[in-house]
Amino acid sequence: MENVFKAVRITDRVWWVGAIDWNIRDFHGYTTKRGSTYNAYLVLADKIALIDTVKAPFREEMMSRIASVVDPKDVEIIVSHHAEMDHSGSLFETAAAIRPKVIYASEMGKKTLNEIHHGAGNVVAVKDGEKVGLGNCELAFYETRMLHWPDSMISWLGEEKLLFSQDAFGMHLASSGRFDDEIDPAVLDYESATYFANILLPYAPLIGKTLDRVGSMGWDLKFIAPDHGPVWRTGLGRILGNYRRWGVQEKTRKAVIVYATMWHSTERMARAIGEGLASAGATVRFLSMAENHRSEAAYEILDAGALIAGSPTLNNNIFPTMADVLTYLKGLRPKNLIGAAFGSYGWSGESVRQIEDLLKEMKVEIVSGGVKAKHVPDAPALRACYDLGRQVGERLAAAFP
Ligand code: FEO
Repeated sequence: MENVFKAVRITDRVWWVGAIDWNIRDFHGYTTKRGSTYNAYLVLADKIALIDTVKAPFREEMMSRIASVVDPKDVEIIVSHHAEMDHSGSLFETAAAIRPKVIYASEMGKKTLNEIHHGAGNVVAVKDGEKVGLGNCELAFYETRMLHWPDSMISWLGEEKLLFSQDAFGMHLASSGRFDDEIDPAVLDYESATYFANILLPYAPLIGKTLDRVGSMGWDLKFIAPDHGPVWRTGLGRILGNYRRWGVQEKTRKAVIVYATMWHSTERMARAIGEGLASAGATVRFLSMAENHRSEAAYEILDAGALIAGSPTLNNNIFPTMADVLTYLKGLRPKNLIGAAFGSYGWSGESVRQIEDLLKEMKVEIVSGGVKAKHVPDAPALRACYDLGRQVGERLAAAFP
C-alpha cells in the first residue's frame, strides 16, 4: 500500500517528520481542545540526523514520514532535546529499528532518559555550546535548563538559519498546515499563550535570560522549529515579543473571577463583584469552574492583574473544583497579582478564609477582607461584593492607567 504519511519540506535540508494527534484532549492536566502535534525533523546532511522523536503510539506515522524521503537506516544521528515521554516515548524503539551511530542528549537528558527508560540505549551527552558536525552542516547545542525540564536543550542549524527550540515557542495545536502563516493568527496567539501559561509559567523568570542569550548569538533567525505546533517562518518577531512579555508576566487592567457555586449564591456574589470591577474600568473574565477547565484559568491569569476567587463552604472546606484550580494555579507560580476571596455558606463558612490562605501562599496581595454571605446573598451582601469589585478595579485602574 502506498505510504500516505509524507515528510513536509521546511528547507531543502530540513523536513518535518512528526505526527499529528488530532484527538488528544488532556495533556497531563492541561486541556488541549485543538489536539497537538509531536514534531520530529530530519536534517538531510551528509550525516542524516533525526531531531527528536514522537509519543510512542505515533512511531509508525513518524517512520512512514521518514521513509518518504530517506531510507530510515541511513539516519546516523538521533538528537533528543528533551526526555519527556511525548518526545522520547518512541526514541529507543526507533533507535532499535534504524540503528543510528549515536544518540545525543544533554548531560541531564542522558540521565533522565535512563531514569525513564531504565538503561535503554547508549546515549552520548553533549555539553552546553558543543557543536556536532554533520558533514556539510553543523548542529550547535545549548542547554535551556528548567525550560521546562532540567534536561531541556535547543540546537541551532546555522546553515539553514533554523533553531530547533524543543517545547519552547510551541503550542498544542493539531493542524494540516505545518507553518505559522498557514494558521489563523488569533489561534496562534491564543494557543501559544495557553501553552506558555500552562507549561512554562513556573519558569518565566528564565525566559528573559534565554532570549538574551539567543539574541547575543547574532543568529539571523529564519525558522523556529518547536516540538509542538507549527514551524515559525513569518511570525518570529511576534512570538519572540510575546515570550518577552509573558516572561516578565506583564499585567493589564484585567481581573479574573474564578468561582464555584452550589445553589447560585456564590455565583450571584461573583456577578456583583464583576459589576463593581467593570464600574472602575477593569476588564472582567468570569470563570465558573463547573463550565471551565483549570487550563483556561491559567490562560486568563497570564496577563491579568487581579485574581478574585469564590467558593461556597462544603463540609467545612472549599468546593473541590476550587481546590483543584487554586492548587493548579499555585503550582504555575503566577506573579504580580492582587486579589480577594468571597463565598456563601450555610453553617460554618470556612471557605473564604481558606481561599485567602491559598491566595497568600500564591503571593497574591489581598486587597480587602473577603466577603461572606449566609445562604443567599441579600442586598447588603451584594453591595459588599460590588464594593469589593470596585476596590480591586480602582487598584487596577491606578496601576494600569
Ligand atoms: Fe512536549 Fe515537555 O514535552
